[in-house]
Amino acid sequence: MRNLLAKLPPAVIALLLQTAAFAGVLLFSRTAAMQFPPLLFALLCGALAAMFSLVAGLARWWLLIQFLFAPAMVLMLALNIPPGFFLAAFLILLVVYWSTFRSQVPLYLSSVKVWQALETLLPEPQPERNFTFMDLGSGVGGVLVHLGQARPDGRYYGVEAAPLPFLLSRLRIMLSGSTNCEVKWGSLWDCNLAPYDVVFAYLSPVPMDELWQKARNEMRSGTLFISNTFAVPGNPPQDMIMLDDLHHSTLYVWRL
Ligand SMILES: C[S@@+](CC[C@H](N)C(=O)[O-])C[C@H]1O[C@@H](n2cnc3c(N)ncnc32)[C@H](O)[C@@H]1O
Repeated sequence: MRNLLAKLPPAVIALLLQTAAFAGVLLFSRTAAMQFPPLLFALLCGALAAMFSLVAGLARWWLLIQFLFAPAMVLMLALNIPPGFFLAAFLILLVVYWSTFRSQVPLYLSSVKVWQALETLLPEPQPERNFTFMDLGSGVGGVLVHLGQARPDGRYYGVEAAPLPFLLSRLRIMLSGSTNCEVKWGSLWDCNLAPYDVVFAYLSPVPMDELWQKARNEMRSGTLFISNTFAVPGNPPQDMIMLDDLHHSTLYVWRL
């Protein structure tokens, strides 16, 4: 059972366990001919869902979410908030986070100190040759626009899956007048890494193994792969740059 669940994204497992807990409490209340007030019913669902999540091996922080989910829903319903509010909140979260429930890579942004450190890693200027840089999961385009202005002798590309960050990055590039930056809407997994001299990623621990394999298969020898914050287990980088920004970011640098 655990093996079967491990193939699903944690958010989907959490939802399945909530449904199972709801069914369990409903079945119990029917067979015992007991009628629980809504909040108590929800608390029982929450307790059971948290127990199921513990057994299923979800990360500890999911247990609190699982416990609070149904009671929070009952309390929110009691506030009589118009349903349009929830629909609007859902749609906003959808366009910002898109497939995060599956990719487990949410939107958060590299600091200015990371942008400046990246400048020092770019290839030396060469007469009559522009180098190429790719930001995998380019968010709202901050890395690209900064580097595009700091080093105009490069071509900067980004790929972003979430619609709102993608549109904002397009707008940002347009407003900054950066003609050497370009962002595409799509998945980084569909992007061939062979044309790039530097590939940068700031994702999460989840895709790093697979991304490293992709970089090794597709990137040319002598090019740079840089990951902000997330290492590749079992593959030490050639260089590490530690920064004193808010998140104490570390840049992991591999030369292919
Ligand atoms: C942590 S943010 C980094 C943003 C930007 N690169 C930076 O350093 O400021 C990760 C971004 O990757 C995007 N993302 C996640 N999975 C993706 C995928 N498979 N393809 C393209 N973008 C993806 C997310 O939507 C999010 O905007």
